[in-house]
Amino acid sequence: MMRILATAAGLAFPPLVALLVLALGGWLAPVPALVAAGLVALAMLGFALIWVRDVEMLIDAVRQVATDDSGVTPRIAPSLALMEAVGREIERLMRRVSQHTALVDQFRRADEAILERLPDPLIVLAPDRAVRRANSAARAAFGADMAAVLRHPGLRAAIDRAFSVGAAQTAEMTLPVPMSRELHATVVPMDPPLADGGRAIVVLSDRTRERAVERMRADLIANASHELRTPLASLIGFIDTLLGPAADDLPAQQRFLGIMAEQAARMNRLIDDLLSLSRVELTEHQAPPDQLDLGTLLPRLAAGFEPRLAERSLTLDMQIAERLPPVAGDADQMAQVMQNLLDNAVKYGREGGVVRLTAHVAPAGNRWPNRPGVLISVADQGAGIAREHIPRLTERFYRVDKGRSRAVGGTGLGLAIVKHIVNRHRGQLLIESELEVGTTVSVWLPQAVGSARAFDAD
Ligand SMILES: Nc1ncnc2c1ncn2[C@@H]1O[C@H](COP(=O)(O)OP(=O)(O)O)[C@@H](O)[C@H]1O
Ligand SMILES: [Mg+2]
Repeated sequence: MMRILATAAGLAFPPLVALLVLALGGWLAPVPALVAAGLVALAMLGFALIWVRDVEMLIDAVRQVATDDSGVTPRIAPSLALMEAVGREIERLMRRVSQHTALVDQFRRADEAILERLPDPLIVLAPDRAVRRANSAARAAFGADMAAVLRHPGLRAAIDRAFSVGAAQTAEMTLPVPMSRELHATVVPMDPPLADGGRAIVVLSDRTRERAVERMRADLIANASHELRTPLASLIGFIDTLLGPAADDLPAQQRFLGIMAEQAARMNRLIDDLLSLSRVELTEHQAPPDQLDLGTLLPRLAAGFEPRLAERSLTLDMQIAERLPPVAGDADQMAQVMQNLLDNAVKYGREGGVVRLTAHVAPAGNRWPNRPGVLISVADQGAGIAREHIPRLTERFYRVDKGRSRAVGGTGLGLAIVKHIVNRHRGQLLIESELEVGTTVSVWLPQAVGSARAFDAD
């Protein structure tokens, strides 16, 4: 009200002074002068009323642009024609601002979504190094251990360096708990800071598997070289003897050449097994190509073993169920599995005993997967394997008794090859053994998809 009166007074002042001067100077009669003055005051009051209302409306609108970011643009409807133009411009400004706000909001949400969905664990740090945010991969990988990860001295030092240098820093660390993990961390300082105030991001990648693979590869090369060196050293030794002291000793030469042939054969077997292993590894991620009919394949493979069985006076007891469903498999690799299992049964079985080869539809139950499959087992009556060795038998070069294995021509790679082949076939391997009773190695293989399920367990 005060504002209206003051505005009206300000507007009316010049014409009222002019009327007063005219009246006092006698140019205007007092009565018309008074009437005119009244009209002027009234008109100015009315005008001030409309003017002040319009201006206040515009002020409110501008204030809303500045403070509110709800994105709603109210309609501005001033009464004065001139104010209407101003109102339109303000409305346009409001629309621009709200579009801009929406865009900024969209960018921020996109940034958040990218960080959140990144497959690598990522942690956003505030300027005081507290955790501002952790993406889903980080929450899944570390959960409550997040603080422990950030307390790791190597990572703390990298964060300090990143903040002081202003450039990305890396750290390697090993977390002992809850399970040993090897992590590679990259700390990237954020300048300008992220929308949520984050001043640095820590990206962690789990290198545990890669490191294990690297170590395994290095171990394999070291082991293979070591295994090859022994027969090679013996060959070199005998060659020296043949060239020197035994040059004229024909019986000794015959004996040494016999041993040399054995050593060379051993090197040959080692290289064969190493090559098989690497071939199997190469195909491990491809589905096996053939449909195998075990009912004909197994007897054929077993027949090939007759001479070896005879050498140790072993009897083969073969029980292969009729109408076995086909399995998806690689014929050469399956032959290798049977070869290695029968070979072990012959080598480690009891001389003069029985080797039993069975194949039947896998019984449903909790030992084998709950899908249709076929179970093949090779059982011997040998000395058996102590319990603590069993989980390690499929490791490369692992042998319970190195000397014995070597003496019977073993390389320590047979079961490792079997394990890889079974993995490729999406099957399962089970080794059961009882000391002084014997060993049974079972291979479960999934039934080929697409083959009818008209087979019952027996
Ligand atoms: N049927 C078995 N009876 C007793 N021990 C076995 C049997 N099969 C395997 N083993 C043990 O497992 C080890 C690893 O087997 P494998 O990988 O086939 O190597 P290799 O036969 O060349 O020695 C063997 O050295 C042996 O100690
Ligand atoms: Mg073997």
